[in-house]
Amino acid sequence: MSSNLFRTKNVEESIRDTEEPQHALRKTLSALDLTVFGVGVIIGTGIFVLTGKVAKENAGPAVSLAFVVAGVVCALAAICYAEFASTVPVAGSAYTFSYASLGELPAWTIGWDLVLEFALGTAVVAVGWSGYIRSLLDNAGWHLPDTLGGRDGAHGFGFDILAAGLVLVLTGILVLGMKLSARVTTLVVAIKVAVVLIVIIAGAFFITGSNYKPFVPKSESVSAGGSLKAPLIQLMFGWAPSNFGVMGIFTAASVVFFAFIGFDIVATAAEETRNPQRDMPRGILGSLFVCTALYVAVSIVVTGMQHYSKLSVDAPLADAFKATGHPWYAGVISFGAAVGLTSVCMILLLGQTRVFFAMSRDGLLPRFFSIVHPRFRTPHRPTILLGVIIAILAGFTSLSELAELVNIGTLFAFIVVAIGVIVLRRTRPDLPRAFRTPWVPFLPVVSVLATLWLMVNLPAETWLRFAVWMVIGFAVYFLYGRGHSRLNRPAREEAARPEA
Ligand code: ALA
Repeated sequence: MSSNLFRTKNVEESIRDTEEPQHALRKTLSALDLTVFGVGVIIGTGIFVLTGKVAKENAGPAVSLAFVVAGVVCALAAICYAEFASTVPVAGSAYTFSYASLGELPAWTIGWDLVLEFALGTAVVAVGWSGYIRSLLDNAGWHLPDTLGGRDGAHGFGFDILAAGLVLVLTGILVLGMKLSARVTTLVVAIKVAVVLIVIIAGAFFITGSNYKPFVPKSESVSAGGSLKAPLIQLMFGWAPSNFGVMGIFTAASVVFFAFIGFDIVATAAEETRNPQRDMPRGILGSLFVCTALYVAVSIVVTGMQHYSKLSVDAPLADAFKATGHPWYAGVISFGAAVGLTSVCMILLLGQTRVFFAMSRDGLLPRFFSIVHPRFRTPHRPTILLGVIIAILAGFTSLSELAELVNIGTLFAFIVVAIGVIVLRRTRPDLPRAFRTPWVPFLPVVSVLATLWLMVNLPAETWLRFAVWMVIGFAVYFLYGRGHSRLNRPAREEAARPEA
């Protein structure tokens, strides 16, 4: 039985699957498309919304250090991702990589985990987008009824119609085809990056040095919220729950980590890349580098413009300009943020459907979902199904706790990928690797430890929710996936089999 659970799908087999006409995606993306894709999904709610919250509650001006910490953790993971993506260029990201290296059960675990990351991530970003749009509408004197503005509606019922609508429109765009999505994304990314640069350059003129004092505020104990709200590490060691101080920087890092999510999604587009061996590592590392530099600059500028204790938690970048008496900039920034969040949402949705597609192609989920559209050559079935579910989720769910749940799922995927690099080097040393992670196994081990460190800085209740999701996943695997896996069938029978 255990050999069954850890059976692997070999790399050649993975690549061959992608060549079957009924399951083949179009190969159109270049390294530049991938970098644009990466930047498109990485810069989003993290920098536009969470910066203010963590500066105010956890780290003060040292939030910029939190971005550095989270960026380093991501860079280590990115180097491992790059090796995998350049060796196994098949849709599905960490899921596919772990199927090739660690075996079916770990692969299922990671796939299930990525579904959580992307689906909830899409919902979180859609809700953030809707907040910015509502604030722009308010400026124009247009007010949506409370019940359609979010879950906290006037009479206990609220449905965020803007967030749900956004998800549905993006679902339509994705069904029409990858190239269209990449084009739309390019324009949106340009606007978003321009707005971030405006914050950095214009904001630098409005910095007041005294706002940086103290740069690392003194640790303060917190009592509100119950022990499950405290970071797991504080519970593990019996420390009194606290904010700020050096540990506050790590708590902040585990939250702003959300701002980096997305570079791993570049890897999910490997199968649609013209030259994945060369372009994947460039796309992943390039987009990560650009974003880290921008985040550190933005957080230094914003905490210099306004004292951290006064930053807004809904629209900190725009409100810092209002606070310094420049509402015009604030309007432009809100507009850019709303536009920018659109692309984040779309790419998260894309990553999600590709993972689902890959799991279905392998038989772990019904094969019905992996037949691509005859004309658009996109996996339209999972795209539509998941789009509708996420739209409903985005309409009814609330933001910050979901973001933490997304983070823990993503961090878990990093660990599996880093271990996968080490395992695949041993089991398949012969495979051509366009990009090789340096200092294996040292670097992947450091990556695992760094990732674990961020994970234990997340609240205990996030761990509990994550555990519940994974238990459901195991149930689905043992009741369905294990019996239907494509690896159950001998190769000849598989070739003769009509498509479901
Ligand atoms: N990194 C993305 C964001 O910040 C998910 O919104």
